[in-house]
Amino acid sequence: MSSPSIHVVILAAGQGTRMKSHLPKVLHAVPGGPMLDCVIRTAESLSPESLTIVVGHAADAIQSHLNGHNGVQFALQQPQLGTGHALLQTAPLLAGKTGTLILLSGDVPLLTGTTLNSLVAAHCGARAAATVVTATVDRPFGYGRIVRVEGEVARIVEERDASPAERQIKEINSGIYAFDMTHLFDALGGIASQNAQGEYYLTDLIAIYRRRKLMVKSVLVDDPQEVRGINSRTELAEVSRLVRQKKNEELMASGVTLVDPAATYIDPGVEIGADTVIHPGVIIEGRTHVGAACEIHAHVTITDCEIGDNVTIKSFSLMTSSRIETGASVGPFAHLRPETVVCEGAKIGNFVELKKTTLGPHSKANHLSYLGNATIGTKVNVGAGTITCNYDGEHKYDTVIEDGAFIGSDSQLIAPVRVGKGAYVAAGSSITQDVPPGALGIARGRQSVVDGWVERRKQASSDKDATSRKDAGKPAH
Ligand code: UD1
Ligand code: CA
Repeated sequence: MSSPSIHVVILAAGQGTRMKSHLPKVLHAVPGGPMLDCVIRTAESLSPESLTIVVGHAADAIQSHLNGHNGVQFALQQPQLGTGHALLQTAPLLAGKTGTLILLSGDVPLLTGTTLNSLVAAHCGARAAATVVTATVDRPFGYGRIVRVEGEVARIVEERDASPAERQIKEINSGIYAFDMTHLFDALGGIASQNAQGEYYLTDLIAIYRRRKLMVKSVLVDDPQEVRGINSRTELAEVSRLVRQKKNEELMASGVTLVDPAATYIDPGVEIGADTVIHPGVIIEGRTHVGAACEIHAHVTITDCEIGDNVTIKSFSLMTSSRIETGASVGPFAHLRPETVVCEGAKIGNFVELKKTTLGPHSKANHLSYLGNATIGTKVNVGAGTITCNYDGEHKYDTVIEDGAFIGSDSQLIAPVRVGKGAYVAAGSSITQDVPPGALGIARGRQSVVDGWVERRKQASSDKDATSRKDAGKPAH
């Protein structure tokens, strides 16, 4: 059987009133990104012929969020009169097309491509007019319920419109469906708004199809968590916890030690090698890769970084878009800003900030430094308190420190400047000119020593006290 063309529609026009937010609900993030992005990724796994997003409330915010995302088109729903009305807004874009329409909800982010594939297979295999994805849950509160007659789906009733008996039903509507496009837009026009919310419910389509003797099927998901909808901040936190839990379990199964999984926050896209140990309070986000046998101590935040094997990251370090090579050590309290490279065996100590800087193999910057726009060679020692002065208020300038150089403590390297191979910079220097290879650069006020100064000062101050006591004894005028 050749599979018919697939058109995906994602509903994302609702306000998400229960979120109490200025941000549209579907742009709130779960681990891995805004929930709408998760739904789009899953939709794209079907390689659909078209992908339409229905926007309405805060449409601008959603459209600009997806600006540059290839292959999505938007249908505007204004005002938002319910899910049935939302799908109807895609008619100008999709009416007359044939094949299967897959309807997804922008607030159901955990849905997997596997489930979508089984939906398509079941729907097309049965040649159904509509197929709805359902789940059996212990707490069906808030979801539409699947009402069956003689085992077949007869209709879907919303929580607010359900009778007490219907509210006992544990099979819920996931809000995810497949439709044969032949009948769809015509039937959608038949939906009315006589219900508790005065909205055009998409769910009414099922009863309409039944009346028209069109075949309605259902697919039950194995894991009901996958179709959890997010309507409130509490549900956002619960779903986020599920995502993290799943990721943590995968990591532990692959040989990563999580000292306290409940206090570990790792995005789904992160990769970590075996025998790496992750302590509590660690956040690893984005496209980060951590090698094997690393140790990441408590309260470290890593975003979009590439970390080699046997790397140690000590507590309270923060790093973004940086690379840390094998055997390096960073922190505690280090700040690695974008485009930093800490090469093999190099060491970054406490209160050191790097930006657009490469610290060469086996080099060290152990204490209290700012190194920006710097290229630092092999086995360089950067003393405590060293600062690259890379900014004159208008432009940024580069500092180069060649292999084996030694930068004495509390030096300022005023860029652009170069310290040559094996050169020394004396502690406390303000270096404004290049220091040639093998030379010593010293640029500080010369010290003078005043012998006997302390004793003389003591003598002078006791003489002054005696005079003022004498003055105090004189009669007043
Ligand atoms: C909906 C279903 C319910 C199902 C649940 C699953 C209806 C009437 N109810 O309820 O049966 O159990 O999803 O999560 O369909 N939207 C629009 N335009 C609108 C209204 C909503 O685009 O006018 C979008 C929302 O942005 C959201 C989605 O449709 O992405 C679902 O809307 P929501 O209000 O969350 O519906 P539920 O009450 O959760
Ligand atoms: Ca919802």
